[in-house]
Amino acid sequence: MIIVLLGYMGSGKSSIGRILAKKLNYKLIDLDDYIEEKENATVKDIFRTKGEIYFRKKETEYLKALLKLKENTILALGGGTPCFAGNMEAILEEDNAVSIYLKGSLPFLSEKLFQKKAKRPLIAHIETEELMTEFIGKHLFERSQFYNKAEITVLTDNKEKAEVVEDIILQLF
Ligand code: S3P
Repeated sequence: MIIVLLGYMGSGKSSIGRILAKKLNYKLIDLDDYIEEKENATVKDIFRTKGEIYFRKKETEYLKALLKLKENTILALGGGTPCFAGNMEAILEEDNAVSIYLKGSLPFLSEKLFQKKAKRPLIAHIETEELMTEFIGKHLFERSQFYNKAEITVLTDNKEKAEVVEDIILQLF
């Protein structure tokens, strides 16, 4: 089985993926890390030198290949992955995959991301917390239609990571 973790930037996909993979003894693949390895460049540099359209093309290409894996895998996506090029449909159509939306609220994501924006090309330029909240509010509104298609939703606000992992396991098995 492939457990696909999706959600907005800062929702904990990578860190929760790591704990879940250990607990279930699954392999972990973080799509951003995978892209960085394959392209031999950071996501930030890919955006800067080749542009977002190139990044999205590669993201779709690698996602589709990874969805065919036969090993038990936790696949942590990038925040935008489900929202482009029919990727969410591809995930939902894959019999072997189950999708989980890690859902954080706007205030929760906004506060966290303001501290951790540097590596994220889409938000790195935002200068105040107020502007960050405004940007994420709009972005989340556009993207929620994709995230909400996930088969399972787990709320993450004010929860320890271990608690989120327990919630996922309870809903999965
Ligand atoms: C993106 C999220 C990032 C990364 C890229 C674009 C997005 O991943 O894929 O910067 O469009 O939301 P994280 O969600 O892991 O930050």
